[in-house]
Amino acid sequence: MTNSNNNNYLKQTDLLCDDLPTKPNSGVGKILIAGASGYIGGRLVPELLARGYQVRVMVRVDSPEYKINWPEAEVVVADALNIEQLKQALEGIDTAYYLIHSLLLGPKEFEAADINAAKNFRRAAEHNHVKRIIYLGGLGDTRVPLSSHLRNRMEVAAELSRGAIPVTILRAAIIIGSGSASYEMIHSLVKRLPVIIVPRCALNRCQPISIRDVIKYLVGVLEVSGTENQSFDIGGCDILTYKDMLSTLARILNKKTLIIASPFSWMSIYAYLVSLFTPVPNAITQCLLKGLKNEVVCQSDTIRKYLPFEPLTYREALVRAMSREEQDRVYTRWSDAYPPAHELALKLHEIKGKVAYTTEDSLLTDKPASSLFASICRVGGKKGWFHETWMWRLRGMLDRILMGVGTSRGRKSYAQLKVNDVLDFWRVEDIAPNKRLLLRAEMKIPGRAWLEFKISPEGEKTKLSVIAYFDTNKFTGKLYWYSLMPFHHFIFRHLIEAIERAS
Ligand SMILES: NC(=O)c1ccc[n+]([C@@H]2O[C@H](COP(=O)([O-])OP(=O)(O)OC[C@H]3O[C@@H](n4cnc5c(N)ncnc54)[C@H](OP(=O)(O)O)[C@@H]3O)[C@@H](O)[C@H]2O)c1
Repeated sequence: MTNSNNNNYLKQTDLLCDDLPTKPNSGVGKILIAGASGYIGGRLVPELLARGYQVRVMVRVDSPEYKINWPEAEVVVADALNIEQLKQALEGIDTAYYLIHSLLLGPKEFEAADINAAKNFRRAAEHNHVKRIIYLGGLGDTRVPLSSHLRNRMEVAAELSRGAIPVTILRAAIIIGSGSASYEMIHSLVKRLPVIIVPRCALNRCQPISIRDVIKYLVGVLEVSGTENQSFDIGGCDILTYKDMLSTLARILNKKTLIIASPFSWMSIYAYLVSLFTPVPNAITQCLLKGLKNEVVCQSDTIRKYLPFEPLTYREALVRAMSREEQDRVYTRWSDAYPPAHELALKLHEIKGKVAYTTEDSLLTDKPASSLFASICRVGGKKGWFHETWMWRLRGMLDRILMGVGTSRGRKSYAQLKVNDVLDFWRVEDIAPNKRLLLRAEMKIPGRAWLEFKISPEGEKTKLSVIAYFDTNKFTGKLYWYSLMPFHHFIFRHLIEAIERAS
């Protein structure tokens, strides 16, 4: 459910495949998109629907948003680590896109999860006689030692191809588009820092590709014959060093950024520092930055024979991404992928018994519920928290230092909020227009926390409340709650007063 306009519907002009030189293939049958809640999957769904395909989206957690955004799509809930659920999800499917990735689990856990998911998927697809799998993985030269992330992308491709089902593999390097993790890292570093010290391996070469071209290739290989059982490298027009990529953006932004290559390659430290200065958390920067040691350049251009369109340059991809951000039309973002395996994903109403600690502040006002709700839905992100924003940011920075998500994730759209959107170190758990906004904490805390904004009629007036919930039975949790209590009262009181004034 969205709080405002229909900003999240993809307009016809936003579709990326309009100039694709292929035609929709009516013989394709039913298509499953596994990983539809992710950055790539979420952009592929509307393209396939617009081209008239029968689409089933596979997600781990259902959300009312899917039915609103993709009314013609069938939604199935399945976890790829559960083969029985996968068998049901793949029933009656002809072609399956495999866009599952578990990077959010962090460098220690994602590899095993991704291999198991791919193995289950192949088996469940075989069980259902699926005719074809299309997978988007990573570029990399297999003749040299690869980073664990790139190696894992190859292993997933090998695992999917192990059976009898024809698999089409697309291999891409960095994807540049509004909302992509790589773009947001590059953009934040250049925007914020006058001097950027890069590791020596930033002089390695990469062939970035725009999100538009990735989606065109994903749809194109479905529509052009002869691409089954093939692996294609896909890339943009430019081959650049990572240092060049930073300096190109600095030139576009008209910034005199000094980029210095250091002789040291302590990638864990660089990745940690990057997580402090960009919206992307440490779990992801660790996996991505360790990939800098490998050159990721297309080794073959066979894809051009099948889909002979001209991809965008790196500069064009950057300009498009910035323009989408400025227009507040970011359709999917890296933060959309949702880690339900994470214990913080427990919902407030799922807590057994009473939540251990709560505190409430409220006021009465003459302002209408709609205007109060509109103000509430503007909290966080670039605009801050109406009052004492520095305190929220300080808490966010502390969280980042502790390798949490921090407040710098901001929000995908400043005009609207929907279930599962991130909002600084919160995630939207529930939203009922003009009544309630419930946020679940994703920062590092010794327990589980929620923040609820409530609007209710009270006689002639309207009551605006903010309620903080904290559930813990740890000693450190209790200590945390009581030590923050005086600040909570001060912050929440000022917060609702400021919301009321802004309404
Ligand atoms: N984004 C890039 O810059 C980039 C660059 C090159 C290649 N690629 C490739 O493109 C593919 C898609 O990447 P992405 O950026 O779209 O990833 P993403 O945004 O992290 O999305 C990953 C998707 O996988 C789903 N998922 C994870 N574990 C699952 C499980 N056990 N069962 C079911 N679903 C599960 C997630 O669902 P939840 O929402 O439930 O977590 C989410 O929908 C990957 O293979 C990646 O290597 C991406």
